[in-house]
Amino acid sequence: MESMAIISSKQPDDDRQDSKVKGDRKKRLPSEENSMPKNSVLNSAPLSPGMPEEGDLLQPAARLDEVGKPEESLRPKRLAEYIGQKDLKEVLDIAIKAAQKRSETLDHLLLYGPPGLGKTTMALILAEEMQVNCRVTTAPALERPRDIAGLLVGMQTGDILFIDEIHRLPMVTEEILYAAMEDFRLDITIGKGQSAKTRSLDLQRFTLVGATTKVGALTSPLRDRFGLVQRLRFYDLDELTPIVLRTAEILSTAITPEGAAEIARRARGTPRIANRLLRRVRDYVEVKLDGATITGTLAAEALERFNVDPCGLDWTDRRMLTVMIESFGGRPVGLDTLAAITGEDAQTIEEVYEPYLMQIGYLQRTPRGRIATPAAWKHLGYQPPDNQLVLLGG
Ligand SMILES: Nc1ncnc2c1ncn2[C@@H]1O[C@H](COP(=O)(O)OP(=O)(O)OP(=O)(O)O)[C@@H](O)[C@H]1O
Ligand SMILES: [Mg+2]
Repeated sequence: MESMAIISSKQPDDDRQDSKVKGDRKKRLPSEENSMPKNSVLNSAPLSPGMPEEGDLLQPAARLDEVGKPEESLRPKRLAEYIGQKDLKEVLDIAIKAAQKRSETLDHLLLYGPPGLGKTTMALILAEEMQVNCRVTTAPALERPRDIAGLLVGMQTGDILFIDEIHRLPMVTEEILYAAMEDFRLDITIGKGQSAKTRSLDLQRFTLVGATTKVGALTSPLRDRFGLVQRLRFYDLDELTPIVLRTAEILSTAITPEGAAEIARRARGTPRIANRLLRRVRDYVEVKLDGATITGTLAAEALERFNVDPCGLDWTDRRMLTVMIESFGGRPVGLDTLAAITGEDAQTIEEVYEPYLMQIGYLQRTPRGRIATPAAWKHLGYQPPDNQLVLLGG
């Protein structure tokens, strides 16, 4: 089945997790077993090796990292191992304990935030904490009603269905989800035209975990059906540094706390980028210095070579800001113009590049377009114009 192939080619690691988790969950009563046939294709589709892009360290195609790379071994497995996101962890910890106390299923949960902050990781942790199976899929793979129907009937009580990029759900699928989420009912239409009949099927109570980088693109009927809506935020330096140290330990790489902090500082507040930068620095040190310990100086030297500056900005960020400064002299610039200048698509700029630039105060979105802030001018070695404060409304 086409949709299943998509599932496995995008998230083979998660898929493996899925089959692994499945084996562990044998505590169910026979009465809880769903009588419908299981969607076995989900676990048996062949894994297709991905081709992660080399060179551009900050590629949003970082998602490809999840293909054929040992990212799985780097994922924390339990809530206690998940570093940072204190508020999110607190909310989920309470939700888990309350559900367990009442022997209920978890409420549907929507996680949103920029790529690589730990949404998929958190969904897998929830399944682990709740001792349930986790089915992983992505919205564009749920093209036809039967794709989602197949997954839903295969859910056992309490199971988690994780839908990535949930803002991209096709409307037909979304409408099926409304009744499934609210009443645990699957409404399906059989046949066409006058002879069409609608049948209703009871589903086991399951938990839907949706992840999105674009919460604003969700329709309100869908968003309103999530009991918990949680934002993931960028990580601070003192959260990312232990993440780098933890990954280094898993990869058996020698690193000093300063080395870890230097990598963390350049990782755009994002664990996935921190892990990727660490791998690049490790390669550099292994090849150039025969595997010396990664110190702050070595990490900085290696990352300069890879064009990652001390704020974590890469070529695309700097190009965007430079053009805004040099060609537009601080006047607002439209998103499409930025896309044309950098050769990135507008969506990538909006979802991947801009959130971090806004977070560090280098870019502002105004109704008339994007503006590079005085801090960005200074970072790139320009003297900001006096009248920019007027444009920024300051
Ligand atoms: N809190 C954390 N502690 C330690 N490592 C983390 C944490 N969050 C994320 N990571 C690491 O970062 C990697 C990326 O996380 P994850 O795949 O969960 O991000 P995501 O939010 O689902 O991204 P995307 O939007 O691209 O799907 C994981 O493999 C994991 O190793
Ligand atoms: Mg993910």
